[in-house]
Amino acid sequence: MEIKGQGFSLRGWRIDDAASLQKHADNINVSSYLFNRFPHPYTMGNAVEWISRMMKQDPLLNFVIDVDGELAGVIGIDMRNDIYQKAPLIGYWLGETYWGSGIMPQAVKLMVNYAFTHMDIVRLQAGVFSNNPRSMRVLEKADFVKEGILKSAIIKYGVILDEHVYGLVKWVIPS
Ligand SMILES: CC(C)(COP(=O)(O)OP(=O)(O)OC[C@H]1O[C@@H](n2cnc3c(N)ncnc32)[C@H](O)[C@@H]1OP(=O)(O)O)[C@@H](O)C(=O)NCCC(=O)NCCS
Repeated sequence: MEIKGQGFSLRGWRIDDAASLQKHADNINVSSYLFNRFPHPYTMGNAVEWISRMMKQDPLLNFVIDVDGELAGVIGIDMRNDIYQKAPLIGYWLGETYWGSGIMPQAVKLMVNYAFTHMDIVRLQAGVFSNNPRSMRVLEKADFVKEGILKSAIIKYGVILDEHVYGLVKWVIPS
């Protein structure tokens, strides 16, 4: 399974992604904006464990962002249970060397299209820390709407932050 973008593609995981995953993920400028389940430091053991899990995914919900045959970042859909089952979360990160190249807004649009086409969902949601304007811009460029700000909802590395909630509802995607 491969989804082509301009200058990159989204594809499934390979065991030989471990070295690039470890290299790009082991960066405080990446982990600072993600859930604590994304480790820091990020070891080769963490990379191999993650890839082993991702290679067993069915359906494929978590993709490698591939630039010139190498992992440059990751984008995925996080399913939720119970009353939230039709409103999963979308999450992503890019190796810092690739920042500013315009990959991520396009990658988010491709994932939105994939998710709304292949999954029985009505909405995608993202929670962005208040200190991450880059990611807010990415979502806005991909047609997400800021629906609210949850005050002091997050503690990351000892700092209390607001959470900016972005949503995109299936039937209002512009054509
Ligand atoms: C979020 C992330 C994927 C964005 O990738 P990126 O390559 O920087 O994204 P782009 O360059 O395509 O777009 C970023 C936009 O933010 C803008 N921007 C950059 N710094 C900014 C700042 N301090 N304030 C406001 N906007 C800013 C850029 O100008 C650009 O907008 P433009 O295209 O209109 O000029 C990347 O920074 C990342 O992986 N961060 C760490 C993990 C993360 O935050 N994941 C998301 C969690 S919600």
